[in-house]
Amino acid sequence: MSPIAATLQGHSGSLPVHNGNHERVGETLAILGCGVMGTAILLGVLSAQASHPKTDGADLLPNRFRACVRRSESADSIRSKLPPQALESTVALHTNDNAAAVRGADMIILACQPHLFKPILEEPGMAAALQGKPVMSVLAGVTSEEIESHLQSSAHDGAFSVIRVMPNIASAVQASSTVLEARPPQHPQPLPAHFIATAHAIFSCVGTVFTTQPDTFSICTTLNGSTPAFFAMVVDGLVDGAVALGLSRQEATQMAAATMRGTAELIMSGKATHDLRYEVACPGGATMQGLRTLEEARTRAVWMDAMRASTSEQSGLSGGLKVQRKTA
Ligand SMILES: NC(=O)c1ccc[n+]([C@@H]2O[C@H](COP(=O)([O-])OP(=O)(O)OC[C@H]3O[C@@H](n4cnc5c(N)ncnc54)[C@H](OP(=O)(O)O)[C@@H]3O)[C@@H](O)[C@H]2O)c1
Repeated sequence: MSPIAATLQGHSGSLPVHNGNHERVGETLAILGCGVMGTAILLGVLSAQASHPKTDGADLLPNRFRACVRRSESADSIRSKLPPQALESTVALHTNDNAAAVRGADMIILACQPHLFKPILEEPGMAAALQGKPVMSVLAGVTSEEIESHLQSSAHDGAFSVIRVMPNIASAVQASSTVLEARPPQHPQPLPAHFIATAHAIFSCVGTVFTTQPDTFSICTTLNGSTPAFFAMVVDGLVDGAVALGLSRQEATQMAAATMRGTAELIMSGKATHDLRYEVACPGGATMQGLRTLEEARTRAVWMDAMRASTSEQSGLSGGLKVQRKTA
């Protein structure tokens, strides 16, 4: 059986289908580390709620948000991206004020850089504030058990529930492919069902949700989290090629992206990739010459290597080896 066990939401950009009667976790979500990914999720949830306020399942979603950052420039950057009405009534910005933000929240998305989660969770009062609340971690390369045991060692006792989730940057336009980790039935610490339902509800707002087992999570991290950068590189190369031949960059970008979206829709509707390739490339035709050029460059082998390189790299991500990326 495929490791991807279930899709709860087949369409991007709308509120989730309600999956059973689940108790509501609460109304306030704190995003601990609201940078590129956290802001993409925040914008996606806000715009899904604005466009489909009463859809079935909306009752599990937060309607108040606390966005936590370290630097005032980062708070300004979030402020500049939010609709003014959200800042007035819905979203509070917290700068260097994590424990207070988490104390006032009912659910948490942990979205700092992977190597920074330990100092954040060790802040005074943090473990106590997180206890009993669903923590949805989007950290690449950090397991939920690693976060739970770090919290347990900081708190000395208490139960922590960390749900591992991997969305992508397209959350901002409600077109993420997101994977949630499903704990196997024999897991010593099962997650409460209403916590899982809450995570499904939030991430269904920002795209399509899949679930996978812990042993395949890192592959899905690359496939969901990293490949937008890979696909952007494909578009970049095609656009440069078109520009070199005389098309304007703007037209080439729009056409390449629209073609990529159409191709994705065909594949998602069930068309096999090899059928698609050979339906486009007729015998002796021009497309076949382009495909031959790609094969000569070992393009498929290169993508396979890129999947492997990104997936292997994740194991070092929580160990403090990464240089912190500057955020604008
Ligand atoms: N970017 C993606 O496409 C993507 C996709 C999937 C998963 N992820 C995961 O998402 C996480 C965040 O990635 P990102 O690209 O969003 O990184 P990012 O833009 O650098 O965001 C990290 C955020 O964490 C904040 N932060 C750091 N230390 C903090 C502290 N002590 N207290 C409060 N906030 C703090 C930063 O605030 P300051 O700016 O003020 O320092 C920044 O807003 C990573 O774990 C990554 O693996 C990212």
